[in-house]
Amino acid sequence: MTTYKLLLLPGDGIGPEVMNEVQKVADLLGQAGVAKFETETGLVGGSAYDAHGKAISEADMGLAMAADAVLFGAVGGPKWADVPYDVRPEAGLLRLRKDMQLFANLRPAICYPALADASSLKREVIEGLDIMIVRELTGGVYFGEPKEIIDLGNGQKRGIDTQIYDTYEIERIGRVAFELARKRNNKVTSSEKHNVMKSGVLWREVITALHKRDYADVTLEHQLADALGMQLVRWPKQFDVIVTDNLFGDMLSDVAAMLTGSLGMLPSASLGEADAKTGARKALYEPVHGSAPDIAGKGIANPIAMIGSLAMCLRYSFGLGDAADKIEKAIANVLAHGLRTADIRGDARSIISTEQMGEAIREELQKLVA
Ligand code: IPM
Ligand code: MN
Repeated sequence: MTTYKLLLLPGDGIGPEVMNEVQKVADLLGQAGVAKFETETGLVGGSAYDAHGKAISEADMGLAMAADAVLFGAVGGPKWADVPYDVRPEAGLLRLRKDMQLFANLRPAICYPALADASSLKREVIEGLDIMIVRELTGGVYFGEPKEIIDLGNGQKRGIDTQIYDTYEIERIGRVAFELARKRNNKVTSSEKHNVMKSGVLWREVITALHKRDYADVTLEHQLADALGMQLVRWPKQFDVIVTDNLFGDMLSDVAAMLTGSLGMLPSASLGEADAKTGARKALYEPVHGSAPDIAGKGIANPIAMIGSLAMCLRYSFGLGDAADKIEKAIANVLAHGLRTADIRGDARSIISTEQMGEAIREELQKLVA
């Protein structure tokens, strides 16, 4: 059996609580002979700042670069509201994305049938929903220079961020989207704002040319990002794969996540380019939800997005799609039995803790891998 090296970066807030449950799922898979994991744990975000004065230490960056995959919890919280900008908790995550060159962020939004009533949208709008947002993750306004606040000397200051996209960046994220669509429902919706942004004009041009050249078998549509936001809440089932830039992807994926009932449900994968020789990609997996400081330490956070992130890791990094399916099936079964954490309670009579949810999922998984 292959041994996979996993780096766990639980981070802040509810990160450590949900990561605990992932560790136990990984142990179960090891015992069942599905795959063997060698795990190490590092610090990121506010917890790394408290220990090292920066959002991730060089040693932990080294572990991340050497790992077969990184599992990331969440970062940030009011405790670090006033730390210098360069070492704020989020800087740790952004550095991981940039240094590992994780340009492709896959954010699935799947509505589990048992949760259709937990959404703020009508059941018929979201029942059976299965879309994939492909967000560009290492470019755009997140990283473009100049990025600064300058003093204009007349009592005014100027805040500047820069949106930049080069052809190769648009092309490689486009490829990821088209390839995924071929394995799904064969449709890509590309989104930008070419009506006001030059980077949007280029984005549309490059995606159109790529489609014509290599992916003419896939249906391609373009939608302005504001209109797409509106369509996402109007009739989300019209979408299969959505490909968009870093900032629009950030926003639209939160909207898509909420369609499914709770931010606590959704995992994500951040992938680098495949190595020319081995085919291996650098990869980081994280829940879409944040550190939720308001409920941290109470043992009530929903671990499903974090456990789902391990499933994505098995599928995309280790070629263990079968084991990934089983984890997702275990989650669906637990939900179908009516077990709920507070965030997805709906009109459930009783709610369970983070640990109880983890345990229930492992019980189901145990049956599936036996
Ligand atoms: C996300 C988060 C991050 C982002 C923050 C924590 C920097 O919101 O992963 O969606 O904006 O990308
Ligand atoms: Mn976000």
